[in-house]
Amino acid sequence: MIDVDELRSCTRCALSTTRQRVVIGSGPQHPRLMIVGEAPGRYEDEGGEPFVGRSGRLLFQLMREEVGVEREECFVTNVVKCRPPGNRTPTRREILACHDWIAGQVHDYAPAVVLALGNVAARALFDFRDGVGVTHGRVVALDLRDGTERDPSAPLTRGLATYHPAAALRGGSSVVDVMRDDLRILKRLLEDA
Ligand code: URA
Repeated sequence: MIDVDELRSCTRCALSTTRQRVVIGSGPQHPRLMIVGEAPGRYEDEGGEPFVGRSGRLLFQLMREEVGVEREECFVTNVVKCRPPGNRTPTRREILACHDWIAGQVHDYAPAVVLALGNVAARALFDFRDGVGVTHGRVVALDLRDGTERDPSAPLTRGLATYHPAAALRGGSSVVDVMRDDLRILKRLLEDA
């Protein structure tokens, strides 16, 4: 079990010196779905809740329309728990420093499906080398013991990657259309779980 008090005061990387809050995640303790983004942005850093800005609004609109799932039903978090200054992409060192936290959350919450949003989350969770432009829609099996990929013949939790909603806000309807296709795969995974 991760120690949430320890996470709340984590100093494993330099983001601890610039953050306002550690954004741990929100949602039920035993969700069927865990949604994992990159890192908190400005509003998340201020309020302590993940995906409260424009990206989150688009994400949960698509979730409602394509999966029939509401935000309150999912555990929502990020691979990096503290805001990188200026919303830059987290460094490899920061992602590694935070890895035990997200791996611990996947283990503790034991969701049926983990949805990774964007390159940073998909690479950190599923060991993908390729970018999400290639790996989106691919279903993997996860080992709940450490959150890394395992023998697909013995699946415990399924993983799926799609674009980050921020990419859809920048990229427009073609990215949204791909996300909708991926979310239909997610819907089937949840129905089969
Ligand atoms: N983008 C993310 O990846 N995570 C958040 O919590 C907000 C925006």
